[in-house]
Amino acid sequence: MTRLDPRAFLAYARPTFLTEWPEALKALSFKTEPVYLNVAESLALRKGPLWKGPVWGRSDPVVAGLLGKLHESLDKLGGQAFVRTHTRSPKDSPFFRRQAGRVDDPWTALVMLHESRRFHEDAAWLELDGALPVITLREWVPIPTGLEFRCLVQNGECVGISQRPTDGVRNPRLDQHAVTVQSLLLVFTAECTRRSGLHNAVFDLCLLRQPAADMTVGDLRLIEVNPWHTATDFYAFDPARPNDLDGSFRFDA
Ligand SMILES: Nc1ncnc2c1ncn2[C@@H]1O[C@H](COP(=O)(O)OP(=O)(O)OP(=O)(O)O)[C@@H](O)[C@H]1O
Ligand SMILES: [Mg+2]
Repeated sequence: MTRLDPRAFLAYARPTFLTEWPEALKALSFKTEPVYLNVAESLALRKGPLWKGPVWGRSDPVVAGLLGKLHESLDKLGGQAFVRTHTRSPKDSPFFRRQAGRVDDPWTALVMLHESRRFHEDAAWLELDGALPVITLREWVPIPTGLEFRCLVQNGECVGISQRPTDGVRNPRLDQHAVTVQSLLLVFTAECTRRSGLHNAVFDLCLLRQPAADMTVGDLRLIEVNPWHTATDFYAFDPARPNDLDGSFRFDA
């Protein structure tokens, strides 16, 4: 899949959105609390004067209502969460970066989304379909550095696994247990493919503990799903290069 008009891309990408996952797929990932916004709440988040701060926020009925909904969801997740929407994370927000996406109060979540260009782009994109952003709070799970992998599935087959770039941080245990890790990632990716019904998609997986000989698929989790598209970064693979999608496992050894 290469270029598409934004509406067609929205229809194509929709099955990857967190709100669209079948229950069986959700069971492979982190606990998630979707917070559906109404039109007024979406407008307040996109265009409201959030710069006036939390004291103003609590005095504005729309924002106060939204803060209340977020508070309830945060409580269900134990008081802290990873913040994103059903489409993407606001990882370009400086505040999000400082906290690695972790929030323990609803106002922080609003500020991170509001200052993210990705959030505004996606909100405008969703509008093409008359849809609204869904704030998606997820159980906070610290993912060990270097243990995130992008698994590329084309026509139902895993055609490559790339470690998420680590800025040169090497993990000797990954090198030592590469065969075990690769085989577990392949099993888990096949399960994600089966449960999602998506035969062209990019699954982000992580290990919850350091690689070891006794690891099982229970040590893996699905982080999220991305569309198979030029807009998705294939990291160590270049789909434009003939035969580059060779099924290999690529990581910094
Ligand atoms: N529940 C979580 N707890 C802690 N960190 C998380 C959690 N979920 C995701 N992360 C971290 O945040 C990063 C971005 O999250 P996510 O993949 O959900 O958003 P994204 O914007 O779609 O990312 P990408 O652009 O890489 O596809 C992940 O690669 C992971 O490092
Ligand atoms: Mg993504």
